[in-house]
Amino acid sequence: MASYDGFIPLGKQFRELPDPSTQERYSDEQLYALALYIYSLKPPANPHPFEAEAVQGKQIFQQQGCAACHPPPLYANNKLLPVSGFRVSEDLKTRFDVLLVPIGTDPHLTIETRRGTGFYKVPSLRGVRYRSPFEHNGSAATLGDWFDPRRLRDDYVPTGFKGYGVKNRAIKGHEFGLKLSGNDKAALIAFLKRL
Ligand code: HEC
Repeated sequence: MASYDGFIPLGKQFRELPDPSTQERYSDEQLYALALYIYSLKPPANPHPFEAEAVQGKQIFQQQGCAACHPPPLYANNKLLPVSGFRVSEDLKTRFDVLLVPIGTDPHLTIETRRGTGFYKVPSLRGVRYRSPFEHNGSAATLGDWFDPRRLRDDYVPTGFKGYGVKNRAIKGHEFGLKLSGNDKAALIAFLKRL
């Protein structure tokens, strides 16, 4: 039922809201029951041990300032980061939890698509071990790829989503952790897999 700048996905000719009396909707009771069921689901036990490497990774996470945007316990501050090229109005700043820190990720999906908002939200890192591919486009197949500095090069072949007809392209932005040594990076990833 939502309208995206006049485009209504479920509307007549995508322009006009359909008559609500002809629309079927689950009752509030049914949706509440569905929500309770979803809350009852428990994630599988974490198969990764919290051993020396992950303990070291936790320190690296703190030293690198990751918690500024990914603070425990959710490992997300839930803020919206505007992309470059998007001007944040005073109205948006008061209505939403906006963090004006540019991180240089690809603005395409949030600026040039109908449902785009101009922002990307800081994702939670809980359960990141079973949530690949990473980044809003799903461009990086593994955490190792997400923290691989080669992904910034234009001749890089994304290991996840590439784009129609695209052979190579950079996965830009979010350069946090890219300069870590091999050991430190492995430790950081071991920690992330514990979340
Ligand atoms: C200034 C805020 C900020 C900082 C600091 C930051 N991140 Fe992020 N992080 C983000 C945002 C925003 C995204 C989503 C980027 C996107 O999808 O384009 C993200 C995405 C990620 C992802 C991918 C998650 C997914 O579900 O796709 C991982 C993993 C991650 N960050 C880990 C880290 C680690 C580790 C550090 C520190 C080395 C760090 N981040 C520092 C804001 C930040």
